[in-house]
Amino acid sequence: MHYQIKDKKFEPFLSQAQIAEAVDRLAARINADYEGKNPLCIGVLNGSFVFVADLFRRLTGPAEVTFVKVASYEAMESKGAVEEILGLDKDLMHRHVIILEDIIDTGITITDLVKTVKEFHPASVEVAALLLKPDALKRPVNIKYVGFEIPTRFVVGYGLDYDGLGRNLPAIYQLTPSEDL
Ligand code: IMP
Ligand code: MG
Repeated sequence: MHYQIKDKKFEPFLSQAQIAEAVDRLAARINADYEGKNPLCIGVLNGSFVFVADLFRRLTGPAEVTFVKVASYEAMESKGAVEEILGLDKDLMHRHVIILEDIIDTGITITDLVKTVKEFHPASVEVAALLLKPDALKRPVNIKYVGFEIPTRFVVGYGLDYDGLGRNLPAIYQLTPSEDL
């Protein structure tokens, strides 16, 4: 049942069914909270593309989607600082923005992104994240929609990668406890 990516072993963590249930639950809340608001979803590439595809198709009312890519100074470890936000739709004024993230680790990426989005005077900004590592947070964050709170252990699959690989796994795997990145 182990899944090997390069030098690392990963073990099953969240099944496709568990993920689908969480996405359904988040979508139901978003549908209730945003009725008649035509939310603008902003997916954070690359990792969020699978989550966005699944969540967005569960939104029942009018909704729009766009993507940004976040470049950071350190690519190897979790990021020290966000260098640049690429592709941000500047037409955010009076929009109800929902930022969609695959995973929140230190919280640095999302806090920088929320701050930047707010500079364009949206009507509201909230964050939906499939995964949140509460013990890894280095900044206070306010994530309204969280799929799962998980331990501080590296995960892959469902869009998340280890060194570019593993994004196509339909379920989520975690690094075996004996290994550390
Ligand atoms: P943060 O700024 O530390 O919150 O970084 C969040 C970003 O780091 C995510 O969008 C992912 O790209 C990446 N990341 C954090 N933890 C993991 C993980 O366990 N697996 C894969 N990517 C991760
Ligand atoms: Mg990401």
